Amino acid sequence: MANRKLFIKSYGCQMNVYDAGRMTDVLTPLGYATTSRPDEADLVILNTCHIREKAAEKVFSDLGRLRAVKAARAEQGLDQMIVVAGCVAQAEGEALMARAPVVDVVVGSQAYHRLPELIARVHREAGRAIDTSFPADPKFDFLPQPSVQGPTAFLAVQEGCDKFCAYCVVPYTRGPEASRPVAAILDEARHLAQGGVREITVLGQNVNAYHGEGPDGRPWTLGRLLEALAAVPGIARLRYTTSHPRDMGDDLVIAHRDNPALMPFVHLPVQSGSDRVLAAMNRGHDRATYLRLIDRLRAARADLSFSSDFIVGHPGETEADLEATLSLIDAVGFVHSYAFKYSPRPGTPSAAHPGQLSPEVKSERLARVQERLGVHQRAALDLAVGTTMSVLLDRPGRHPGQLIGRGPAMQPVHLGTPGLAIGDLVEARIVAAGPLSLAGEPVEPERDASPPAWRVA
Ligand code: SAH
Ligand code: SF4
Ligand code: F3S
Repeated sequence: MANRKLFIKSYGCQMNVYDAGRMTDVLTPLGYATTSRPDEADLVILNTCHIREKAAEKVFSDLGRLRAVKAARAEQGLDQMIVVAGCVAQAEGEALMARAPVVDVVVGSQAYHRLPELIARVHREAGRAIDTSFPADPKFDFLPQPSVQGPTAFLAVQEGCDKFCAYCVVPYTRGPEASRPVAAILDEARHLAQGGVREITVLGQNVNAYHGEGPDGRPWTLGRLLEALAAVPGIARLRYTTSHPRDMGDDLVIAHRDNPALMPFVHLPVQSGSDRVLAAMNRGHDRATYLRLIDRLRAARADLSFSSDFIVGHPGETEADLEATLSLIDAVGFVHSYAFKYSPRPGTPSAAHPGQLSPEVKSERLARVQERLGVHQRAALDLAVGTTMSVLLDRPGRHPGQLIGRGPAMQPVHLGTPGLAIGDLVEARIVAAGPLSLAGEPVEPERDASPPAWRVA
């Protein structure tokens, strides 16, 4: 049983990264250790994303390559089991089984705690297995505490979505909105902090719709949960993602004023700056409401900065609509954003809209949106030069002795100072800005007395 190797690859969002970690934790007690080489893996898990066509198709090209790897291993008398997990598994499990005979197990995003059972069944019966159910008892009740990988960690607090934006598959792949109880979240946070985690990003497809049961038996808001998380010893920084403009309640706005652990940075996807397009997208907010929300948040904390997601070329989008998106980008001055070409997804209302745009128009508009976003991103980095900010060092840099961390607004900051270590939270003076990152010098390093095991000098 021991010494088996697991290759696991995640596509898509942070929730998938978190889920991949949890799947690994479920399999560790069975003797699986991770490898970065599919050819030496006894078990391969592709943790898939269905959000755009390109993401979904990647799975099939990866499965094509894996078929050759599996055949080569079979020639040496070595077994390999292939599992497809995540949102493609959830949305198209049966079709995937039919189209890709190389796949042994399909497991959806709510059933992956059952992986040991499914794997054992396939071994025992030399067959195939599929589980895309939404079990009545949530998977979190069955998962072991997560292993700690470094000074930052994700923690899922809410899952699923009831918003049904007209272009989006998430309500179908992740199911309805559900929140974990406060006590389970605090247990997980304490466990992470004891392992040396200093920064937690709480995750949810609609994280600010959080309404989990508190210890008082009543539903708690995200603002209240963040207050409790800030009190966990060892936790210095908190973030949350992804929020929906419709769910940004007063208590969360106020948390940005009153909770010093909460980083002054909000990812608040707007998708478009045009009211016509926002209505066609069924976003449930307009441009003015979004801009007022940005003002409310800035009034609570003046140094707040924002990032967003944009969909360019939604069916029916005109030149004037695109201009409205560009002017909204200028009005907010996002420090970092993602822009995507609209991708029609099976079964969604937007895919049936008669006003589909050509790939050329989408590409040309995407380039203009990205250009405008780049102007604001570079301006924000340039403005940081000469200021001082806190940086949590979380990975080695490219050059010997160099470490990289994140500033409050997720800016990558490079420090080349000897004597620092991953996990240090340092005050750094910013001395230079590049196109995507900053360079700094520490003002006053703060070191832990007892470094955790993953720490590298
Ligand atoms: N729950 C989050 C994130 C959902 S998916 C939210 O509401 O914002 C992440 C991003 O993918 C979305 O914000 C959107 O910009 C993009 N996206 C979703 N569906 C898409 C589609 N059909 N085509 C292109 N981009 C899409
Ligand atoms: Fe998709 Fe909209 Fe839900 Fe976000 S809020 S996950 S974009 S349906
Ligand atoms: Fe993709 Fe599923 Fe996340 S579709 S973006 S992996 S919720």
